[in-house]
Amino acid sequence: MANSKYEYVRTFERDELLLPNTWLVVRIDGRGFHKYADCLPRSMNAADLAFLRSRLSDHYGFEKPNDVRALNLMNLAATHVVTSIPEIVLAYGVSDEYSFVFHKSTNLFERRNAKLVSTVVSTFTAAYVALWPTAFQSGSAWEDGTARASLDVAMLPTFDGRVVCYPSWENLRDYLSWRQVDCHINNLYNTTFWALVQKGGMSHTQAEEFLKGTVSADKNEILWSRFGINYNNEPDMFRKGSVIYREYALETTATRAEQEAEEVDEAWRGIEPPPVSKTQAEKMRKIRQKAKVVTRHVDIIRDEFWVQRPWIKSGKPGKPPE
Ligand code: GTP
Ligand code: MG
Repeated sequence: MANSKYEYVRTFERDELLLPNTWLVVRIDGRGFHKYADCLPRSMNAADLAFLRSRLSDHYGFEKPNDVRALNLMNLAATHVVTSIPEIVLAYGVSDEYSFVFHKSTNLFERRNAKLVSTVVSTFTAAYVALWPTAFQSGSAWEDGTARASLDVAMLPTFDGRVVCYPSWENLRDYLSWRQVDCHINNLYNTTFWALVQKGGMSHTQAEEFLKGTVSADKNEILWSRFGINYNNEPDMFRKGSVIYREYALETTATRAEQEAEEVDEAWRGIEPPPVSKTQAEKMRKIRQKAKVVTRHVDIIRDEFWVQRPWIKSGKPGKPPE
């Protein structure tokens, strides 16, 4: 940048650096996928307001309560993010949100908050928009003949984003468990609500009233006795959400014992493993870039998932799949 008398304005810029040695989770969330912004200008005419206030999910005719194409599109966009940012060790998505986990050792963008969040959000949004026609190409046409496969400029999908630092592995596991439990609770509610409306002929208000005060067991019972739906047979993607990570060869329980012993040792000594050199880091980055990024719909609350995939916690690439 050339020197000029204006250059001093740079001194007003401030970077917020995220705490070192903490797991970084960038969560993105679709804006107004349910409700559209309440902050629209009053000067707008009624027709435009009604158009803009409608929900993005309704506007594009998302199926209720889950639209497989919309969820697949979220997964495709998130896969693009994980693939293009190798520092991300795992991503977890449900509904219109996705959480991207950066290993605690990452020094990407010197851990600058704004740079990290804005890069993830814009990479995700760009992919979401670019891949929309592919995801919705099999969708039926609107009544007026416009294909759902094209986006309206007045209703473009946008996402917000934030980053949270989690100081321990346990905090990170609890964060991810919180999101997966939320997925389960919301999906059971939504599945029951929409069954009552679509199959049971109830109005939205009636279904809402009917479900007030019910617990999970009641909803499972309603689904089964009234509609013959066994909730456990609902697709895993709906019940468990989507996990994206790099796949290496699954590890055996023997490795698990070794790993646990190492962890106990580390905790007892209260020290961190030595930092990796720049050359080592670059080598690992290249291996990660070559690894296959997969999407699974599995339980991430219990230990099993993590024990079999120790490379997520260690941040070191695993062994190539057999
Ligand atoms: P903000 O994020 O605050 O802008 O609000 P929001 O309207 O996006 O709602 P929020 O993020 O809290 O919730 C996500 C909403 O997206 C859900 O309530 C659904 O209405 C909608 N949504 C997400 N996935 C689907 C889907 O597959 N089908 C349908 N019909 N709706 C979906
Ligand atoms: Mg949202």
